[in-house]
Amino acid sequence: MRELRIGLIGTGFMGRAHALAFRHVSAVFELPVTLRLAALADADPQRASQCARAWGFQTAHSDWQRLIDDPAVNVVAITTPNHLHFPMAMAALAAGKAVYCEKPLTVTLEEAEQMNQAAKAAGVVTRVGYNYQHNPMIEWARQMISSGELGQIISFDGEFSEDFMADAASPWAWRCEPQHGGGALGDLGSHLLAMARHLVGDVQAVCADSQTVHRQRPAVAGSKET
Ligand SMILES: NC(=O)c1ccc[n+]([C@@H]2O[C@H](COP(=O)([O-])OP(=O)(O)OC[C@H]3O[C@@H](n4cnc5c(N)ncnc54)[C@H](O)[C@@H]3O)[C@@H](O)[C@H]2O)c1
Repeated sequence: MRELRIGLIGTGFMGRAHALAFRHVSAVFELPVTLRLAALADADPQRASQCARAWGFQTAHSDWQRLIDDPAVNVVAITTPNHLHFPMAMAALAAGKAVYCEKPLTVTLEEAEQMNQAAKAAGVVTRVGYNYQHNPMIEWARQMISSGELGQIISFDGEFSEDFMADAASPWAWRCEPQHGGGALGDLGSHLLAMARHLVGDVQAVCADSQTVHRQRPAVAGSKET
């Protein structure tokens, strides 16, 4: 049986979610492959080693390039802040490895187009973390739309509600910085746009209205510095 040897980059919220899924998926689904948790990378070396031990990865790296170069890895999963997706995915594709990259794919359209080209040239399997699309309920809706059962679709109404930064005391994070790919549109809107495309097709025009409610945040939790 083919072996998928996972190299996971990032140990934050989504790194943990990927690790849990890779670790348990074969207990839930009959897979045509076996999975091995080969390597885990995080910029913080201590956290990389601690999480590798706790989550069952064989090796820990603090330099993500070493994880990509590691011959034990043939699938690279990227769960780092958005501006890092591009260099990491491009390096993994150049090494001929399959890539599972978190959303939003990149910070700019140019980078996304370069990644798309590189993925096609590499001829490897690639996926972006639009996980909600794989909810059976959504697949059912897609089938109802494409079979014509729902008739002509004339509108799509979507909402993605999150309150995890609603509290003004929530500290600054990379999500607050446009140069790190932060902002509500990239973070949450990307899920909604991907869902709209998945169900009803491409977007032709966009009109947006946005507001930044909290303009300053504590530098770190509990700090007076903003
Ligand atoms: N698909 C989803 O539903 C979903 C949900 C949440 C987040 N995400 C996406 O997942 C990604 C990560 O989000 P998060 O909430 O886990 O962020 P996070 O801040 O909790 O975690 C980011 C991780 O990246 C690590 N990191 C930062 N720089 C690094 C480097 N140079 N080398 C190695 N590791 C580095 C950090 O140490 C941290 O462990 C984002 O792209 C986000 O949009 C997707």
